[in-house]
Amino acid sequence: MNLRFGGITVLHEVGFDVEPGQIFGLVGPNGAGKTSLFNCISGHYKPSSGSITIDGQEVRGSAPSTLARHGLARTFQHPALQLHATVLENVLLGAHTRLPGGPVEWALRLPRTWRAERAQRQKAMTLLDRSGLAWAARKRADELSHGLHKAVELCRALMSEPTLLLLDEPAAGLPHTEVEQLIDTVRHVRADDDITVVVVEHHMGLIAALTDRVMVLDHGRKLMEGTAAEAQSDPRVIEAYIGKDAVDDAA
Ligand SMILES: Nc1ncnc2c1ncn2[C@@H]1O[C@H](COP(=O)(O)OP(=O)(O)OP(=O)(O)O)[C@@H](O)[C@H]1O
Ligand SMILES: [Mg+2]
Repeated sequence: MNLRFGGITVLHEVGFDVEPGQIFGLVGPNGAGKTSLFNCISGHYKPSSGSITIDGQEVRGSAPSTLARHGLARTFQHPALQLHATVLENVLLGAHTRLPGGPVEWALRLPRTWRAERAQRQKAMTLLDRSGLAWAARKRADELSHGLHKAVELCRALMSEPTLLLLDEPAAGLPHTEVEQLIDTVRHVRADDDITVVVVEHHMGLIAALTDRVMVLDHGRKLMEGTAAEAQSDPRVIEAYIGKDAVDDAA
């Protein structure tokens, strides 16, 4: 797949496959193209050429709403929560694609709709509890740290019951103790919810703990694909992270 903006090529012939049920890591230095690649998969950017398939179906160029119907959900590097709404209300926003009935039924508050609403509240609380955030459910989002916004956003993404989840730097801004909680949550997401996960992260501890395979990007190109341990010891990857001059100086 290729992605170009004007004369600038952001992604050059980048390709990878993720098996169902895998946790796949996407790593690389700042500006490597990781978020751009996510934007292509989630329909926020349209690749200039190439192909993107989910369960064998071509989805390249589909709108984000169409991709949500294919079971795709994502979080963003810079989460945008409704700051004046509560954490619980923010999580509930993730469910709106799956509510039964239309606006008229909602306005009339028919039994079917309030039963669905109650079930969704319970589901949202279960997700928050599993992420160690039940205590925050009734707090306003702007009372929480940036790192915890990412954890809330993950719960919001899970409300749509995705089969494929893209996480863009979920550990950024989280204190060390919260990273352990996040690793635990993502393990549950795969094992209990049967969700395939692709995660962008600079936190190599999280990548090593969670992923089955990783792809390393640098300057919009694929450097290598393998296990996290293979990536961490690959000279091309070390060079990309610390720069060739530093490698030569150390030699
Ligand atoms: N809409 C756009 N228009 C022009 N250039 C873009 C656009 N989106 C991304 N780029 C460029 O693509 C390159 C890759 O950016 P991207 O945000 O994908 O990197 P990243 O790997 O996610 O980096 P980071 O680790 O810092 O989040 C950058 O040079 C960026 O300026
Ligand atoms: Mg990014």
